[in-house]
Amino acid sequence: MKIAIVGATGMVGSTFLTILEEKGFPYESLTCFASSKSAGQTLMYQGQPLMVQELNEHSFELGFDYALFSAGGQVSLKYAPLAVASGCVVIDNSSAFRMDPSVPLIVPEVNGQHLTHDTQGIIANPNCSTIQSVLVLNALKPFGLKRVSYTTYQAVSGSGYQGLFDLERTLKDEPPSFYPTSIAHNVIPLIDVLLEDGYSKEEKKMILETQKILDLPTLPISALCVRVPVKNAHSVHIQLECSQPCELPQVIEALNHHPFVKVSESIITPREVSGQDIAYVTRLHHDHSVPYGLHAFVIADNIRKGAALNAIQILETLIERRNEHV
Ligand SMILES: NC(=O)c1ccc[n+]([C@@H]2O[C@H](COP(=O)([O-])OP(=O)(O)OC[C@H]3O[C@@H](n4cnc5c(N)ncnc54)[C@H](OP(=O)(O)O)[C@@H]3O)[C@@H](O)[C@H]2O)c1
Repeated sequence: MKIAIVGATGMVGSTFLTILEEKGFPYESLTCFASSKSAGQTLMYQGQPLMVQELNEHSFELGFDYALFSAGGQVSLKYAPLAVASGCVVIDNSSAFRMDPSVPLIVPEVNGQHLTHDTQGIIANPNCSTIQSVLVLNALKPFGLKRVSYTTYQAVSGSGYQGLFDLERTLKDEPPSFYPTSIAHNVIPLIDVLLEDGYSKEEKKMILETQKILDLPTLPISALCVRVPVKNAHSVHIQLECSQPCELPQVIEALNHHPFVKVSESIITPREVSGQDIAYVTRLHHDHSVPYGLHAFVIADNIRKGAALNAIQILETLIERRNEHV
């Protein structure tokens, strides 16, 4: 298995390497690509140095089986089609192809059935806040999802290294160089650009991607996304209206039964969840303003389950399907 990692020096890319190493993932070759800025840099994998190569139009002539992309939408738009043309399957972390009807948008525990032994081309990895939210909503589907409202509290690591550096800089009272204003001791109620209808692009991603992954294209969903001065692990407050009675013992059982979801009876925060692979649900209680309503505060590591781990699980699922078919 020849694997390429595009954006290997980034926050998500370096976590690909960490998780592949943790899993002892079998491979024939592992090739790391980034921009010209990082070419020649060395990354360590299983105690061995891996030299970073500059990504260019000829990179995929090396003949890879799978490429994990996490270098932003523009890089994916330009290079993912070249990778596919060379016969490689691309798992893409950017938003470039997520809403393309021909591209599967996958959270393996939720809609992994869309991956088959002959899946080719591009497979999209959803937005980080969406992944942790759909895990919970999928578990609650038996209660009849009637309406969903999201409010997010998104960590600076969601913006990659630039977000982390901006938090560190502004905590020292230096001016921001990435966010529009200081993120230190502050919250910014806008992530990505504002759209004409009043939603931000990040909010639109959460709405449309949730509908696509859950295969509920008409489910009413609203979202408001906020950047907070937390280093890592996103929080999403889900206000859910169900169409059927949703007694808490049954809800807790359904959530705990779902892989990668755990209800925390005590209060849990992003600090404890950072570095973990599970989406934790805390503050679970009824919303008494509607007949069958729930509040859930969902926290997950946006770099692991929200990005790198989910992408690697897509890769594992695909390989499993192909092995089953042989
Ligand atoms: N952070 C998250 O929570 C998260 C979650 C889900 C999805 N994503 C998505 O994953 C992608 C990467 O995010 P990140 O947080 O890892 O960002 P990051 O820390 O800023 O890393 C960006 C990576 O892209 C590389 N890159 C930039 N321009 C390139 C070019 N022209 N050619 C080749 N490589 C290039 C960078 O290489 P250099 O080091 O050489 O500049 C670096 O390796 C984005 O699409 C993001 O939306 C991120």
